[in-house]
Amino acid sequence: MATVRKALLRRLVGLASLPAVSISSGGTFPKRVKIVEVCPRDGLQNEKNIIPTPTKIKLIDMLSEAGLPVIEATSFVSPKWVPQMADHAEVLKGIRKFPGTNYPVLTPNFKGYQAAVAAGAKEVAIFGAVSELFTRKNINCSIDESLQQSYEILKAAQAASIPVRGYISCVLGCPYEGKISPAKVAEVAKKLYSMGCYEISLGDTIGVGTPGIMRDMLSAVMHEVPVAALAVHCHDTYGQALANTLMALQMGVSVVDSSVAGLGGCPYAQGASGNLATEDLVYMLTGLGIHTGVNLQKLLEAGAFICQALNRKTSSKVAQATSKL
Ligand code: HMG
Ligand code: MG
Repeated sequence: MATVRKALLRRLVGLASLPAVSISSGGTFPKRVKIVEVCPRDGLQNEKNIIPTPTKIKLIDMLSEAGLPVIEATSFVSPKWVPQMADHAEVLKGIRKFPGTNYPVLTPNFKGYQAAVAAGAKEVAIFGAVSELFTRKNINCSIDESLQQSYEILKAAQAASIPVRGYISCVLGCPYEGKISPAKVAEVAKKLYSMGCYEISLGDTIGVGTPGIMRDMLSAVMHEVPVAALAVHCHDTYGQALANTLMALQMGVSVVDSSVAGLGGCPYAQGASGNLATEDLVYMLTGLGIHTGVNLQKLLEAGAFICQALNRKTSSKVAQATSKL
């Protein structure tokens, strides 16, 4: 039965496949896309019931087996703020580290950075936003204070040769401040990049953006930061995540964040829902002839595993469709 499913899946992916395409608006899709899998952190951080540590570890191991090049494993935030991530050190220590796979962790401040390094983190991610109100609700400080905290982490990380990724939240809209100007996103992105972040992930935290807003925001940011250093991180609240990601790819972005089974959401962003589902992203990229190195069948198994553990229906359309085969 499983063999028949696999064969059918191969045929369906084949149906959607085309040779690598050029697009009429002048750009060309990248030949390869690096997928940053965020389910173990973004996908699980908002779950009310505490998920057993071995379940988190098994999920990450299954994602590694699926060939994902980057898996954000956990976050070293305050357990009072996000109880679900309180087992960060156990998770990071318990996972199998596959050669060639990176396992970054989120660190909001220097205390989190030190704890992450002590637990063996080889890469960290800092996070800021373009909205004062969101920054206050999420990490209890102003944008300037958060940049100062990021700077302290970056200085220490540079000395220890630890790469630092930077997130910017609310780039296409904020639950508390509404519209966000592309110029503001460009300004914060420039600061994080010049401070030493090797990659800037632009987050549509509450999934309100549409492709036109994504295009305008990216155009502004690309004046300040090379496109090779940009990633997009789309939540799917309004069903726009795949369309927004496609726009970003069309503009030359080749790093995309996503979460298996479409799980996700920031606990301090009112109205946030799941991320772009990794299965749907891989299906689309494969169809476009874009290389990811990810095995869709194994990815579907990881998604089914975590949905079963959470007693939850998957939000991935590809997982829903192929489960009926
Ligand atoms: P605070 O209350 O202002 O911190 O929170 P504080 O410095 O006053 O310390 C309060 C207590 O927390 C103290 O303990 C500290 O030791 C402890 P006490 O003395 O009361 O026992 N503490 C810590 N403990 C563990 N790890 C730490 C840490 N720091 C302080 N790192 C703080 C400030 C930043 C800690 C808090 O606001 C926090 O943890 N926020 C995290 C919120 C979060 O995780 N949000 C979700 C991730 S962001 C996201 O999802 C968006 C993203 O996906 C992109 C997108 O979609 O846009 C990335
Ligand atoms: Mg997110």
